[in-house]
Amino acid sequence: MSFVTTEAMLEAADKGGYAIGAFNVENMEMVMAVINACEEMHSPAILQTTPSTVKYAGLDMYLANVQAAAKRASVPIALHLDHGNSFELAMQALKVGYSSIMIDGSKLPFEENIELSKKVADACRPNGVPVEAELGKVGGKEDDTVCNDPGYTDPADAVKFVEETKISSLAVAIGTAHGIYKGEPKLDFDRLSEIRRAVSIPLVLHGASGVPDESVRECIRRGISKVNFATELRIAYSAGLKAYLKENPDVFDPKKYGALGMHNVTELVKKKILVCGSDNKA
Ligand code: 13P
Repeated sequence: MSFVTTEAMLEAADKGGYAIGAFNVENMEMVMAVINACEEMHSPAILQTTPSTVKYAGLDMYLANVQAAAKRASVPIALHLDHGNSFELAMQALKVGYSSIMIDGSKLPFEENIELSKKVADACRPNGVPVEAELGKVGGKEDDTVCNDPGYTDPADAVKFVEETKISSLAVAIGTAHGIYKGEPKLDFDRLSEIRRAVSIPLVLHGASGVPDESVRECIRRGISKVNFATELRIAYSAGLKAYLKENPDVFDPKKYGALGMHNVTELVKKKILVCGSDNKA
C-alpha cells in the first residue's frame, strides 16, 4: 500500500478501541520481519528507530529500507523517530522524510519540556508530520535513553501540556519501564483512565516488553492507542541468530542465520498485533 503518517492510524485506533504496535527495528532483516508480520495479520504498522539506532546506520538508511518495504506491502506503514533527543535530530528526521516524530523532553523541567515539544510540533505541522511527546518519566534504559528517577504523568499537567504544545499524541508514564523488568511491573491503571478523560489526543505506552498481555490489553481498554515494543524484538532476533550458529557453527552466510532471527521477530510481532487488536485493521 503506502508509506503514511501515524496520524490517521492512531485516530482510527483511538476511536476503534484498539492500538497500533510500534516496533523498534535495527536493521534490514528486522524491517522485513516486522512488515511480513503486519502483512500476514492485515495490520497497519509503525516501525521506529531510537537515536542510537539512527547513529548506527543513518536516518536515510532506515527510511530507504522502510520505504522500499512499504512499496511492496499492502498495509499502511509509518516510520517514527523514537525518543528524539534534540530539536536538531527531530528536524533531520523531518527533512529526510520520517513520517512521524517523537521529541522526548521528559527529563526537562515542565516549562522547558513544553517549549521544546511545541517548537518541534510547530515545525512539523506545516509538513503534515505528527509529533509525539512525553510527560512524566518512563523509567529504565533503552540504548542511550536512561532514566533512573521515573515519575508518573500528572493528569492536570497533561491538559496544560497538550493545550500548549499542540502535539499529536502523548506518551504517558504509568509505571512501565524500558528494557527488562526485574519483577512484574505495577501499572497505575486509574491514572491512565484519568489522563484519558482529561486529554483527547491518542495516548502512547512505552516500555511494553515484559508487560503481561492482559495488562497491555487493559491499558488499551483505558485509552492507549500506540504500544511500543523494542527489547523483546531484539531478544527474539538475537536468539534466532545464536541458536542457528550454535547448531551450524560452520555457516558463514548471513542470509542463513538471519532467516531464523527474522522468523522469530515475525512470530513475536504477530502475537503483539493480536494483543493490540490491530489485526484486520489495515
Ligand atoms: P521496551 O524496550 O520495554 O519494549 O520499550 C520500547 C519503547 O518504549 C520504545 O520507545
